[in-house]
Amino acid sequence: MNLASQIERYLPRQLLELVRDISKEANQLGQKAYLVGGVVRDLLLGYPNFDLDLVIEGDAVKLARQVAEIRQTKLIIHPRFGTAKLSYGNFTLDMATARGETYAEHGALPTVTPGTLNDDLFRRDFSINAMAMSLMPNNYGELVDPYQGRDDLEQHLIRILHLRSFSDDATRILRAIRYEQRLGFELEPQTAQRLKQDISMLDTISGDRIRHELELTFREKHPEYAIKRLGELGALQRINPCLKGNGWIAEKFDKARSLSKPGQLSSLYLCLLVYSLHERENEQLICRLNMPTKLARALRDTLRLKRRLHLLDKSSIKHSEIYYLLHQYDPLAIQANVVASESSTACSNLELFLTKLRYVKTSLNGDKLKRLGIPAGPELGKILQVLHKAKLDGEVKTRVEEEKLALLLKP
Ligand code: CTP
Repeated sequence: MNLASQIERYLPRQLLELVRDISKEANQLGQKAYLVGGVVRDLLLGYPNFDLDLVIEGDAVKLARQVAEIRQTKLIIHPRFGTAKLSYGNFTLDMATARGETYAEHGALPTVTPGTLNDDLFRRDFSINAMAMSLMPNNYGELVDPYQGRDDLEQHLIRILHLRSFSDDATRILRAIRYEQRLGFELEPQTAQRLKQDISMLDTISGDRIRHELELTFREKHPEYAIKRLGELGALQRINPCLKGNGWIAEKFDKARSLSKPGQLSSLYLCLLVYSLHERENEQLICRLNMPTKLARALRDTLRLKRRLHLLDKSSIKHSEIYYLLHQYDPLAIQANVVASESSTACSNLELFLTKLRYVKTSLNGDKLKRLGIPAGPELGKILQVLHKAKLDGEVKTRVEEEKLALLLKP
């Protein structure tokens, strides 16, 4: 099988030129270069994927340096790992020296040793991700498929390469389901059996790595499918016993997509995932996933605001009241409650805050009040707040009206 015509068809011209240069340079240096992993899988499926990973039998860093010089591309090198990242236009390309891996203990990061392309493919998660495409001039485009990944693609199967795969690296449990749901594939029977058997191995994975995998799941078009499946398999509950992947999640994830900016979506999904948790369970999850401070705050605020949502469930509420109820909550937590709340009145009050009220500012500030003869001190702070409330409630509109009110309030 030769994929040369597929890469000509699918890769943008800029990337293709870079790949050709790498091929030429590798050949001159007596090294062998291969495209590997996701891009090969997606070429065979006919999906665009511009995330290029290359494995080099030789020295990836030396080759990357050479190509970067010829092409004038940006280059980041990690000599310790034998890897390099080339940036070219809007694209990046990762190069790694071929390596084998062994795992000293379950869930630990692997011990890496130099190896052949086959070693490098064998250390991978699933057969469909363990294929390569040669970039050598003599067999450019040739598929390298030692673990029958192409057959599995045709039969729509996710298959591990060896029986220790999930216990070596239990993030693969989450990855398996992500690919299964993304591609509409099935777990090959022995893989399914092993996955179920090894669910408890998720305990061996650090919080950061689990969180990273969840974030990758949240980048999928329909992460609720994978979340539901992980719930059915007991993998979600292994991360936190109270997490659920039910129909409510599916409905709310769908709504989140229609309301949220793409950059926020992943964090918003997480806020919705914890929505049914008690605060103590939420704290356990924050700790288990080693959440960064900002995200932890959004999760905590989501649940705190949920408890106070009834205060916003009235249409007669003043704008200033909405503002002062909400201004201390993380906007993401407010957005999560917009998605999760069943009350349309509470929702429109939350949205009013997010779209308008939080941006309302008075024209006068402390300095300007002092110039009006109001002395510095706690009274000045109170006057500023009265002005702000009056502005929110439409009782003052212009700077002149603010000044009039300030002078009336002057002690
Ligand atoms: N990989 C692995 N085990 C992991 C993570 C990654 O074996 N725990 C391998 C897989 O072969 C994968 C490659 O590293 O193809 C690159 O990882 P990643 O970028 O996460 O995967 P892609 O295949 O590029 O997946 P996606 O389409 O989701 O980007």
